[in-house]
Formats: sequence, C-alpha cells, structure tokens
Amino acid sequence: MTPHPPASPPPSFPTRVPARVPARVPLVTEPASILKSLLLARRNLLAILPDIATKQAVVSGKTGVRWHMLMDPDAIRRVLLEDLENYPKSDATKNILRPAIGESLFIAEGAHWRWQRRAAAPVFSHRNVTALAPVMSAAAEATLARISSAKGRPVEIYDEMVRATFEVITNVTLSGSDTFDAAEVHAAIDAYIAAAGKVSLFDILGLPQWLPRPGRLRGGGSLRLMKSIADSAVTARRSAPAKDTPDLLDLLLDGEDPETGRTMSTPELRDNLLTFIVAGHETTALTLSWALYLCAFDQDIQKRARDEAQTALQGRTATADDLGKLPLCRMIIDEALRLYPPAGILSRTAQVDDTLAGREVRAGDTVMIPIYALHRNALLWSEPDSFNPERFANRKAVERYAYLPFGDGPRICIGASFALQEAVIILATLLSQRVFKPVEGKTPEPVMILTLRPEGGVWLTSEPA
Ligand code: HEM
Repeated sequence: MTPHPPASPPPSFPTRVPARVPARVPLVTEPASILKSLLLARRNLLAILPDIATKQAVVSGKTGVRWHMLMDPDAIRRVLLEDLENYPKSDATKNILRPAIGESLFIAEGAHWRWQRRAAAPVFSHRNVTALAPVMSAAAEATLARISSAKGRPVEIYDEMVRATFEVITNVTLSGSDTFDAAEVHAAIDAYIAAAGKVSLFDILGLPQWLPRPGRLRGGGSLRLMKSIADSAVTARRSAPAKDTPDLLDLLLDGEDPETGRTMSTPELRDNLLTFIVAGHETTALTLSWALYLCAFDQDIQKRARDEAQTALQGRTATADDLGKLPLCRMIIDEALRLYPPAGILSRTAQVDDTLAGREVRAGDTVMIPIYALHRNALLWSEPDSFNPERFANRKAVERYAYLPFGDGPRICIGASFALQEAVIILATLLSQRVFKPVEGKTPEPVMILTLRPEGGVWLTSEPA
C-alpha cells in the first residue's frame, strides 16, 4: 500500500499512545507493501488506515485498485448525499453481505433500493420505535440480574451485551415463531460473520476475484439455517392474528411503497428481516460494550452518569419516557460511537471521473470513508483520542459530516433511533444500579473485521451502587 503524497518522511515506529487515553490502535506510520498490508489486515482491518488519515483531509493509494480515503466533510457530503448515484456501495461490501441478505435494503441500489426504503421507513417511525421500548427495558432488567449475580467477579461485558441486544432483536422480529431456537440462530450468524470477515480483507484490498475466498466456501450451512428460520417466521406470521403492539416483522409485512403500493414478497421480507437481525444486534452490543468500558475507564464520568440515572429512574428500569432525562447517558453513547464506531470503514465505488477534496478520482476507484480515522482526525476534533462526552453537549457545534457513526444521506442507517433508544435504556439501567470497574491488565484492543470489536473482551467487575 503506497499512500501519496507522503505527508513528511514517515518515522518507522508506531505513534506513541499517550497516557490516560482509552484503548486505541497505533496506526501505521510507514508506507507498507501490499503483502505487509495484507498480513496486518488479516488480524485487524484498521491496519490499512495510515496514521496520516487522522491528520489530513484525504489519502490516496493503489493496492490492486486505486483508492482514496476521505476525511473531508465537504467531500463526504458529496459522496453520501449530493452525488449518491455516482458512489454506490462498493462491490466489496455487496459481495460480503449478498449471500446472507440478498438484494435487501442494505445492498440494493437505485429503484430497487428506493421502493424498499419507502416501504420500510414507517417500521422505524418514532411512534413504532417508542412502542418497542418495553422489549428493551425487559432485556435491560435481565442483563442487570445476570451481571449482579456475578457478585463482584469479572464479567465479560461484550458477551452480556450481545445476549441483551440479540434478545431484543429476536423478540421484535422472530417471536412467536415455532421453529425458532435463539441459540441456533445466534450460532449461525456468528459463523457467517466470522466467515464473511475473512472474505472482506481480500475484497477490500482489491485482490483479484479468482483467488479462493476461504469464508465464502464455508458460510453455506449457517446461511441455509438462518434463511430457513426466517422463511418459516414470515410464513407463520402471515396467518397469525394481529397483535396490539405490532413488532418489526408485523410492520414490515404491512409495509408498502407509498408511491406504487408494492409490498414485499416472502423472500424479500426474509432478506430484510435477516438484515435487521444481522445489522441491528451486534452493532448495538458493541456500542454498549465500549460505552461501559469507557465508564469504567473514567470513574468521574461514570459517577455523574449514575447520579443522573438514579435521579431519573428512582430505582426503576429505564423506559422510553426517561430518555429526555438522561442527556449524559446519551452523550456517553455518542462518544463511544465516535471513539469506536462499529462500522469503522464505509466503502464506495466511483462510477464517473470526479475531483474529491482536490484529488483526481477515476471511474472504478474505491472511495473509502474511514469513520474510525474521521472521528479521530485532528483537523476536526480537539483532543481526538480523549474520552469527553461533553463534546456532544451542544450537538449543533458538532460538524455533521465529521461525525458519521450511522452514515448519512438517503442511505443513513434506518435503525439509528432504534439502536440509540436501546443503548440508552440499557446503559442507564445498568449504571443506576451497579458501579463498574476495570480489571487490571485487561484492556480491550479495537480490532475491526466486519465491525469494530473489543479483542480480548471487555472485562469489568461491578458492585452495587
Ligand atoms: C449502534 C448501532 C448501529 C450502527 C453503528 C449502525 C451503522 C450503520 C451504518 C454506518 C449504515 C450505513 C452503511 C453505509 O452507508 O455504507 C447503516 C445502514 C443500515 N442499518 Fe444500521 N447501524 C446500527 C443499528 C442498526 C439497527 C438496530 C438496524 C435495524 C434494526 C439497522 C439496520 C440498517 C439498515 C437496514 C441499513 C441500510 C439502510 C439503507 O441502505 O437504506 N442498523 N447502519
């Protein structure tokens, strides 16, 4: 990988990690060869980000294909909003996800994307998301009970958060389905993500299509299982009586394109259902895990958040009605999403020749928005590596295209408000009742495969507040 132009003669050692900065990855400071990039990226995709991506507005290079990393808010706005048609999601992204979620909302382009987005939009309206909050409160309560039962022994928080968010997403999609076995679906998704992650390294670095992709060959069994479970859930639900509070699957079944009246077929419903499950639970679990890690890292902020949560909740579990009374908890979630964005790199393929951030872009080039580097770019953020939730106290002061945990423009994450509501309900409930402390010598390492995960786990102890 050869970034150009070089910012200055690169030192040959990683950037020093200053003290009292939460976990971060020392980004590469020397131009690496293609082979070295591949080897580094096998373990951690963040290794393809050069350190200068946190200091400059654009970095370009060539690894099989020409690529550009954009950290310039105006250029990013062009790609995600103004010139959307010229920058569809890259083949890499689509190749990885298509076997699991077909031509669903996440992957489709043009007219096929547009009608699905219009049909699915009401599913995530404020009213519908608020109505699903009791499922999130119940998961928060169950998680609190599990963590409390450890009686001060270290708990691996990421596992707990995955359990919580998986419970939420399956309760709002697959509940009532006879054939559904939560553990089985979970294992299938895990196996798929692990396999797909291996594929992504090859695809993102632009290696030729003829090279065998190990994951692609192994993902088959888990995919078939996931699809058959989702198919039976959709079929069963078509004939089930209407419920008082419709869940995501009910709402999706009712969804129609307001312009054409078109509704989704069973395979389309199944693919979108799987999209919600795959896109929705791990990302939110990661946000919560990093947020709790940060709270344990900074006891002072944790105490202030606890005071806020205790005042708002008075010993109860958080509900949707409490959200307005939990601004600091929300800021902690926002800051966790800045420091550890679950979708660490977005990738597009240019369709036409263009100029972005002063750089010549040719049709076929890969245009990356490395959210991890954007969120830590020194031109855009003060003390970018520090944990400071207060930077979100005045949202208007945060430059819109400098902070993109959910993307932006027409393809912005459709589940963002669902995820934020779930994260604040679970975080506030846990902080109001427990004091979280780090475990000596157990700092998680941010490692990106498909999402930005805490390698080594988030090990924390907790005691009653
Ligand atoms: C903290 C949690 C989440 C994060 C950080 C996140 C992040 C993102 C990002 C960055 C994108 C845009 C990708 C791109 O432009 O290339 C996206 C799209 C999407 N997300 Fe999320 N997501 C989260 C939760 C959810 C949830 C809970 C759901 C559904 C239940 C969901 C469903 C989707 C879908 C369907 C899309 C594609 C939308 C479209 O292209 O029209 N996400 N998400």
